[in-house]
Amino acid sequence: MSQKVLQAIRGMNDILPEEAEQWENFEEVIRSWLRSYGYRPVRMPIVEPTPLFKRAIGEVTDIVEKEMYSFEDSLNGEALTLRPEGTAGCVRAVIQHGLANQQPQRLYYLGPMFRHERPQKGRYRQFHQVGIESFGFAGPDIDAEQILMGARLWDDLGLEGIRLQLNSLGQPDERARHRADLIAYFEAHAEQLDEDAKRRLHTNPLRILDTKNPDMQELCAQAPKLIDYLGEASLAHFEGVQQILKDAGVPFTINPRLVRGLDYYNLTVFEWVTEQLGAQGTVCAGGRYDSLVEQLGGKATPACGFAMGVERLVALLQDQNLMGQPTGVDVYVVHQGEQAGRLAPRVAEGLRDAGMSVVLHCGGGSFKSQMKKADGSGAAYAVIIGDDEAAAGEVTLKVLRSVGEEKPEQLRVKVDDLAQTLMDSIIDWDEE
Ligand code: HAM
Repeated sequence: MSQKVLQAIRGMNDILPEEAEQWENFEEVIRSWLRSYGYRPVRMPIVEPTPLFKRAIGEVTDIVEKEMYSFEDSLNGEALTLRPEGTAGCVRAVIQHGLANQQPQRLYYLGPMFRHERPQKGRYRQFHQVGIESFGFAGPDIDAEQILMGARLWDDLGLEGIRLQLNSLGQPDERARHRADLIAYFEAHAEQLDEDAKRRLHTNPLRILDTKNPDMQELCAQAPKLIDYLGEASLAHFEGVQQILKDAGVPFTINPRLVRGLDYYNLTVFEWVTEQLGAQGTVCAGGRYDSLVEQLGGKATPACGFAMGVERLVALLQDQNLMGQPTGVDVYVVHQGEQAGRLAPRVAEGLRDAGMSVVLHCGGGSFKSQMKKADGSGAAYAVIIGDDEAAAGEVTLKVLRSVGEEKPEQLRVKVDDLAQTLMDSIIDWDEE
């Protein structure tokens, strides 16, 4: 009886080896970039108590209202959620372990997040973020530093066409005054509101400004602007951020309608956006969230961070041809015969001791079929061992990817000299 082949859940992707290797290369760049700014890794659970996200992200947000994978633990009835983002869990961990009590922290994480959104290019139900969070810095210098980090990363990766949008959401009291005027404005134009806007009018009117509905663009453009409600301190903070960006020569656009889809932000918010990915063009987004630590039960601690979408950045790197070729293994060892079969693993281990990557042929077969596999493996060299070689304590070394012209195609080498011969030839070829 044939069994139905099970498929991955819609919007959750397998990343197959060729692409997964590209992800690993990308992650290497990311890690060294993060280290270069003094950020340290932190790893949080993928599942957290549901109330954490409700309190942190906000009850009246798309994420909490309709995108969370929430379920009840069947063993103890606890309400759990697959993390839709990393900030809430990171703040919980910082509070739980008293991390920010002694000194400010610069932390980063990297991993899968889950949102039940409608999948399309650049939008998935399981996606991956690299996120950074800083705790204990109140001034505009850290906001600006985090933004400059983005600029440097695009540069390091060679990415072009990623633009910075910036806004300030002010402080809660400033937002409250703006909110009251905004509600009054929208109420006065109630006939122009769509269903979504009507629903949000008294819960989260700021999010109405974020609408994609073309019929409401003009109405939103004329609405009271939050920036006009900011007090002296908020304006000074915003100007401080802008000044550092200007000094660093990083261009930006102030977008008064940039409000973000999570409720925890205050003051600076920003998004890095590209036009090359279609509708899902935000590759990196974040801002300041000075109340969240206290709101989740910790000691009041200023905080600021961002997260970027790995799928979107990888897609951009692929589109701009910046991914490079996957690197194959160095050596493929083929062998036939009993003695050869016993020598081969020892030869392979010896090469690994010398730092090379080696695939040892498994599963037998003729020399011809083994050599085909060696060719297909992408290895630069084949090491060939037959019983006569094994008896003489030698192997045959064959060049599979010829780089220099004068190299012999094939030569016999003593087992003990093999690693050195290979290293010498690699060095020779690199110099050519
Ligand atoms: P966010 O704007 O919800 O912010 O997500 C950050 C980034 O994650 C987005 O700009 C996008 O690149 C990527 N992303 C979000 N949803 C999806 C999806 N469904 N499929 C693919 N990529 C996606 C946050 O999550 C905040 N925690 C950022 C932050 C950190 N703010 C302060 N610290």
